[in-house]
Amino acid sequence: MSQKTALVTGAARGIGLATSKLMIERGWQVAMLDRDTEELQKVSANLSGAVPFFCDVSILSEVEKTLPAILERFGRLDAVVNNAGVAQFGPIEDTDFETWRTVMETNLDGVFLVSQAAVPALKESQGSIVNIASISGLRASTLRVAYGTSKAAVIHLTKQQAAELGESGVRVNCVCPGPVRTKLAMAVHSQDIIDAYHDAIPLNRYGSETEIAEVIEFLCSERASYVTGQIIASDGGFESTGIGLPSLRS
Ligand SMILES: NC(=O)c1ccc[n+]([C@@H]2O[C@H](COP(=O)([O-])OP(=O)(O)OC[C@H]3O[C@@H](n4cnc5c(N)ncnc54)[C@H](O)[C@@H]3O)[C@@H](O)[C@H]2O)c1
Repeated sequence: MSQKTALVTGAARGIGLATSKLMIERGWQVAMLDRDTEELQKVSANLSGAVPFFCDVSILSEVEKTLPAILERFGRLDAVVNNAGVAQFGPIEDTDFETWRTVMETNLDGVFLVSQAAVPALKESQGSIVNIASISGLRASTLRVAYGTSKAAVIHLTKQQAAELGESGVRVNCVCPGPVRTKLAMAVHSQDIIDAYHDAIPLNRYGSETEIAEVIEFLCSERASYVTGQIIASDGGFESTGIGLPSLRS
């Protein structure tokens, strides 16, 4: 009962899996949540300190069942990492309403639903929320009308949550990852996009899942006890930089 508990959504692979592993290493118990039952079962089986929960964060009835189940299993909840996300890229005129809704329902509705269900437990533990947005929510790029807009909304939702929940001692922050070679990214990053990222990133490379997880774990921890309402890019410098890198390198 005294060990701190984190809920990580989208934990079956990628950044969510790396975050779960790092948090376990740092002494947390982790409720690993994902809608990919098979993959989550497989990866959580060998992680002591982890318990899998099968749930689609975009479906209210599933979230309403899962949060009480997590609390019943662990007795407390100290951190929520809203990481589950989907990416679909396309030009504005080819993005139909179904695609728009698919992106919004996981990336935005899911963050709203899971956070809201967790608030009473977080107030009790004086815990924190870390929402995962993206550099695509900070800077607009082509093809990201749905994805980029969903992530910009997550950035603002973070500030709304921080403003309202600070009074109760609950901190809320947002991490904006730069490109990481996960299944999500590799499905939408064409060679053009990969080259464009290299051109625009001072560190001149993709990040790793663990580099993003480190920032998330810090924000969940007591080491960040006076940090709330912040949007932190872990992006190799992408957000801070304008033109000129390719000519500097040539
Ligand atoms: N990889 C990148 O380059 C990158 C860059 C910026 C932001 N991000 C963000 O980081 C987060 C994690 O991305 P990733 O690259 O690790 O992706 P990933 O596809 O490797 O993992 C995402 C996980 O979320 C789960 N998931 C998706 N929708 C869900 C839902 N509705 N309910 C429950 N689980 C769901 C998937 O099953 C999967 O296990 C996402 O929010 C993504 O938008 C990723």
